[in-house]
Amino acid sequence: MGTLPTALTKRPHPAEHDLAGVIVDANGSSFSNGDEVIGYIPITLQFSSRQGALAQYATLPVDNVVLKPAKLSWEEAAGLPLAAQTAVQSLRMGGYDPTRWLSLNPTSTSTPTPSNQETILINGGSTAIGIYAIQLAKAMSLHDKFLDYTARPLAEQLSDDPPEPRFGMILDAAGTSDTALYTNSATYVKKGGAYVTTGPYPDKSGLMCLLGRWAGVVLRPSFLGGTPTTWKIIHVVNIKEDMKMLCTLIERGALRPYVDSTYEFGSALDAYERIMTGRATGKVIVKVE
Ligand SMILES: NC(=O)c1ccc[n+]([C@@H]2O[C@H](COP(=O)([O-])OP(=O)(O)OC[C@H]3O[C@@H](n4cnc5c(N)ncnc54)[C@H](OP(=O)(O)O)[C@@H]3O)[C@@H](O)[C@H]2O)c1
Repeated sequence: MGTLPTALTKRPHPAEHDLAGVIVDANGSSFSNGDEVIGYIPITLQFSSRQGALAQYATLPVDNVVLKPAKLSWEEAAGLPLAAQTAVQSLRMGGYDPTRWLSLNPTSTSTPTPSNQETILINGGSTAIGIYAIQLAKAMSLHDKFLDYTARPLAEQLSDDPPEPRFGMILDAAGTSDTALYTNSATYVKKGGAYVTTGPYPDKSGLMCLLGRWAGVVLRPSFLGGTPTTWKIIHVVNIKEDMKMLCTLIERGALRPYVDSTYEFGSALDAYERIMTGRATGKVIVKVE
């Protein structure tokens, strides 16, 4: 968002999307005053309501709020909605819907069961999104193997030693700007598999350069040497059923949030500094008293 012009984004506006807190005015909804809840303010709602989560009070539609899982601390709960929903919706986009595969959707008629031979690749396993995606994949009984992206570029590692069977999908949770993991993917992603990215996040080359580079590889048809793997970008939205499913998994002990660090409200800028290092493992939390 920082790369978009202010005229388009209508800055300044209150920051942030995830929150945990106590209902002070249930306003006739199914909640009661005093309920402990977690909530999510998506970008669209942030723009229309001109409010963010980095505040003492927020007014949210009832569908953007669920009861806080009792076993979570406030810090753990506060970082759950955006990253965890992005993980769920990215996996779903790649054909691995945790809600269906874990039979957590009562309206679902078919619940495919993955074989324990099946693998997917999650790039950026230590990102907040990746941490949730790995846990969801393990809950779906998908095979588990660790690769170190700092040892050698992943595309090289995987092209030299492709998995058998090949990956059903790639989730690029790190939103890497490098196209190599995608352009080489036919070697290690099965036919019909998908590459789902949370980015690509602009690097030093700048936004236009990045868009040009990715458009060049994504739009080139396979008969002209393009990559056959379907490329998709996730835009997370609030889905109350997804939040309920995530809370169920937390109560069952199958899912756990990871907090990288916690800051007092007066040190919120330090929290942003931490995020900007690109080294946070899990969520960075700001306490608003
Ligand atoms: N599209 C959407 O709807 C959506 C929603 C939410 C977030 N996002 C985007 O998703 C991305 C991830 O966000 P996040 O908050 O989960 O995590 P984050 O805080 O941005 O991730 C930090 C982690 O990324 C790892 N990392 C850095 N560069 C990497 C690379 N080239 N390959 C693999 N891992 C790398 C680091 O691991 P090490 O320190 O171990 O190297 C660090 O643990 C961001 O770009 C964010 O803007 C998109």
